[in-house]
Amino acid sequence: MMIRAEIAVDEASIRKVNEAAFGGRDEADLMERLRAEGAVLLSLVAVEDGEIRGHILFSRMWIDTEAGALEAAALAPMAVLPEYQRSGIGGKLIREGLRLLQDERIVIVVGHANYYPRFGFSTALASGLESPFPREGFMALELQPGALEGVRGKVRYAEAFGIG
Ligand SMILES: CC(C)(COP(=O)(O)OP(=O)(O)OC[C@H]1O[C@@H](n2cnc3c(N)ncnc32)[C@H](O)[C@@H]1OP(=O)(O)O)[C@@H](O)C(=O)NCCC(=O)NCCS
Repeated sequence: MMIRAEIAVDEASIRKVNEAAFGGRDEADLMERLRAEGAVLLSLVAVEDGEIRGHILFSRMWIDTEAGALEAAALAPMAVLPEYQRSGIGGKLIREGLRLLQDERIVIVVGHANYYPRFGFSTALASGLESPFPREGFMALELQPGALEGVRGKVRYAEAFGIG
């Protein structure tokens, strides 16, 4: 399996992966809005046998603190074709994404509480952050050790998410 950056001709396949994994158009539509807004930090595809079977996207977000806005990366959406789930594709996409985002300091995800902690995400690291999401699925990861130490503030997503 190969993981590489998204290129323009991948767009339809990425939409297909997201629609199949999520059972609707919302995530694929969200990606179009993120691209239009220029908020995409990194978009990777997993290719096997010439087919795009997985996709992950990171976008710019902020933590508004009393001292100003801190930049962070939002992990969303992420999807693997249903017939290829639970074979490690998602994990490879996350690990490669985090490796390529080494200039970032903080990554935030909202998702399965039993999945993301294995990559270093934790609810404890996100405890100083205010978000509209339930605490148990709202997780953060430090790409630079201590990046979230003492950080208190409200998260602000790209406009494309339509949050807040
Ligand atoms: C979540 C997702 C991207 C993971 O990709 P993947 O390639 O299946 O993941 P991996 O093979 O690396 O890891 C498998 C682990 O993911 C977790 N997992 C996968 N799907 C899950 C689900 N629907 N609910 C809870 N955990 C899930 C399990 O812990 C699984 O481990 P196990 O097989 O030991 O139980 C993929 O399952 C998917 O596209 N799901 C539908 C869309 C979605 O929910 N996206 C994420 C939004 S947070």
